[in-house]
Amino acid sequence: MKPCSISNRPTAHVTIAYLNGTFLPLEEARVSVMDRGFLFGDGVYEVIPVYGGQLFRLAHHLRRLQNSLDAVRIGNPLRDEEWKNILTRLITQNSDSDQAVYLQVTRGVAKRRDHAFPEDTPPTVFAMSTPCPSSAGIDTVTGIRAVTLEDNRWKHCNIKAITLLPNVLLRQEAIDAGTAEAILIKDGFAIEGAASNIFIVTNNIVITPPNGPALLPGITRDLVLELAANNSIPYREADIPVDDLLSADEIWLSSSTREISPVIRLDDITVGAGVPGPLWKRMITLYQDYKEAVRKGKAK
Ligand code: PDD
Repeated sequence: MKPCSISNRPTAHVTIAYLNGTFLPLEEARVSVMDRGFLFGDGVYEVIPVYGGQLFRLAHHLRRLQNSLDAVRIGNPLRDEEWKNILTRLITQNSDSDQAVYLQVTRGVAKRRDHAFPEDTPPTVFAMSTPCPSSAGIDTVTGIRAVTLEDNRWKHCNIKAITLLPNVLLRQEAIDAGTAEAILIKDGFAIEGAASNIFIVTNNIVITPPNGPALLPGITRDLVLELAANNSIPYREADIPVDDLLSADEIWLSSSTREISPVIRLDDITVGAGVPGPLWKRMITLYQDYKEAVRKGKAK
């Protein structure tokens, strides 16, 4: 047997995380079982893409974080500048490639388990970064399948809460059905995906539901609308009846980690021509151009 040479082994990559003021290997990061995040799912989070070492749309993510914290009455433990410094240190310690930063703030570690808020408990602050596979070339994207499922979540889906059990079950149901995402239907309208926002294209108009308590105000969603506005692509923020979803020429799902995915099959219906549509191609090109500008420090 060939002896294995230690010197030829690649050095094991240690992922660095941030926990309550300390940078440390992810495997060593520990929180108490009395943490409210663990016991109650009592916390909020953000996922921020990083391209070329640049935090994508950081100001938008920090604003949404503040809104989520305000909605669940957790004081923001850090100022925006402090968040920026911590996340920048985190990503420079981890990888040169594209990444996604996950950050989470919980109501902290209480002395006893009680639904009511504990007094004088500092929030738990955690952040980690994971490599993001670089997106495939536009021409090689084949599109994804999705299923419609009933939206059985609570009435505050605009809060980016870590309490994600309904989303977890819905996404798993979609995967068990051999698809990539669940499109959630509430009172006859398409709301969003289990972990994405939804767009349809009908008569060359891009349509997405308006922000409100029923859905997460996606950062990618807002950028898609901004790019549409800046490039004379007609768009509307309007409710999407299920019939319009099922007869749409194109369906897209957007998120920080999946960017903009074209849906080519929904339930047992072929969407449009069954391939990524022309407006998706235009939008993803604009999106990739925007990412390039961020990499070069010419956009945020
Ligand atoms: N989720 N809607 C839901 C329910 C989501 O969970 C997400 C993203 C989005 C898209 O938001 P954004 O464009 O800001 O990523 C919409 C993240 C990626 C997650 O939970 O991992």
